[in-house]
Amino acid sequence: MIKKEISKIIQGRNSFYPREFNGKVIGEDVIIQLLKNANFAPSHKMTQPWFFKIFCGDSKKILIDEIIRLNPNFSKEKIEKLKVNYDKSSHIICICVKLNKDILPEWEEIAATAMAVQNLWISCVDSKIGGYWSTPKYCSKMKDFLCLNSEEKCLGFFYLGCIDHKNPRNIKRKNINEKIEWHR
Ligand SMILES: Cc1cc2nc3c(=O)[nH]c(=O)nc-3n(C[C@H](O)[C@H](O)[C@H](O)COP(=O)(O)O)c2cc1C
Repeated sequence: MIKKEISKIIQGRNSFYPREFNGKVIGEDVIIQLLKNANFAPSHKMTQPWFFKIFCGDSKKILIDEIIRLNPNFSKEKIEKLKVNYDKSSHIICICVKLNKDILPEWEEIAATAMAVQNLWISCVDSKIGGYWSTPKYCSKMKDFLCLNSEEKCLGFFYLGCIDHKNPRNIKRKNINEKIEWHR
């Protein structure tokens, strides 16, 4: 039997968006705990390909200024919305992967990194912390700013913030029976 608690935690994970954040700042000790949990993800050959660049406080302004600079086509409204999202967010974690193309296919390293993100995400369940994984197109333009080399990639941003009340999002899941083919 699997423990009831673990199913409750996994099924209790949700995306929470910056519009729902209250603007409070998460303690750095908590952020470190989230990242330690992320670090327990599995990886083929134990390459542990994930790494994170964390923006908080004044550095959020530096990040958003760069995003605006890289996207001259952004409308005034879009920039304004982005600014509000950044203000409300406590920390913005840039999710990065180091590929090891000579020993492993790219997808395995990305899969391992996604598992690290999932660890971080489910660690927020039952807390006043919410977050979501954002994967805007401009991620690929950020290599220089993030000082990534040719083997490294940015896989998006994890926005984290404090939430007063977490209302469950009732996103319908497809029935698992539609995705199962038994071979008994
Ligand atoms: C790899 C990945 C990329 C995502 N990128 C975005 C995104 O760019 N914008 C967005 O609004 N949500 C994004 N999401 C969040 C999904 O929309 C969200 O997980 C989905 O709607 C299910 O909702 P839930 O997380 O509350 O269960 C992403 C999720 C994953 C796993």
